[in-house]
Amino acid sequence: MALINKAIFPVAGLGTRFLPATKAQPKEMLPVVDKPLIQYAVEEAYAAGIRQMIFVNGRNKRAIPDHFDTAFELETELENANKRELLSLVRSIKPDDMECIYIRQPKAMGLGHAVLCAQCVVVNEPFAVLLADDLMVGKPPVLKQMVDQFAEWQASILAVQEVPAEHTKRYGIVAGSAISDRLMDLTHMVEKPAPEDAPSRLAVAGRYILTPGVFREIATQPRGVGGEIQLTDGIAALMRREKVFAYRYEGKRYDCGSKEGFLQANVELALDHPELGASFREYLKALEV
Ligand code: UTP
Repeated sequence: MALINKAIFPVAGLGTRFLPATKAQPKEMLPVVDKPLIQYAVEEAYAAGIRQMIFVNGRNKRAIPDHFDTAFELETELENANKRELLSLVRSIKPDDMECIYIRQPKAMGLGHAVLCAQCVVVNEPFAVLLADDLMVGKPPVLKQMVDQFAEWQASILAVQEVPAEHTKRYGIVAGSAISDRLMDLTHMVEKPAPEDAPSRLAVAGRYILTPGVFREIATQPRGVGGEIQLTDGIAALMRREKVFAYRYEGKRYDCGSKEGFLQANVELALDHPELGASFREYLKALEV
């Protein structure tokens, strides 16, 4: 069995920055070119050797279980029309050796709370958390890079990226001592600091490998603003008991929780698309913006 076999996908957020698109569907179902965000994240976890995908769902989130379920009528139609390629495309969304587990977060009480909702399935093994609205493009895939690091260190690992000084106030910023060019042994984290207060320019992105000790820490943290239970607070507390590392991944992140990042991802992935790329490039050139 792989070192990390379970991934949590918290998909119960309200997605208010994308209203009205997210009124009746989760933002993780928004497509970048031709695939929903959640499918990119699940494929990344699968490529890292993970086979149990745990979705923490909220209300109005039928679309995600449906996406990973068998689409009997659609498959029959495609089969009858002899559309073999489309049929295998639809079937490949959920490989046979992949298991999907759905848990309900009754109320959007924060990312930490969403992760805690999956404790009953994860129990006592290290696990990954992927925020699908952070679309990662990396070779090897970013989570695979992190699983390889985990194999060496057997400790929690947070994905980080360097951000411009003026952007530190958008992220959790990590502090600690460098072990190598890409790895840092963490001492603490600061949530959304002003540039002058930021201990580094390394910002936490939406990929984590965590040891199960984090559940107890999340559960015992006082609630933050609006009664929300924050994952960052739980990880900061974990750092006082166990080693936690930050890993500066190789690859690019698109913040698809924001309209700008979402549009950038669509443009750049369309340019890279084997069928669309060439003609889309011509189209953009002709726009002369
Ligand atoms: P965000 O901070 O992006 O919040 O959540 P959001 O509600 O989804 O979006 P906005 O800010 O209102 O536009 C980060 C991740 O945590 C999940 C979200 O689905 C997203 O993947 N989340 C957040 C939960 O699963 N439950 C929560 O209670 C909060």
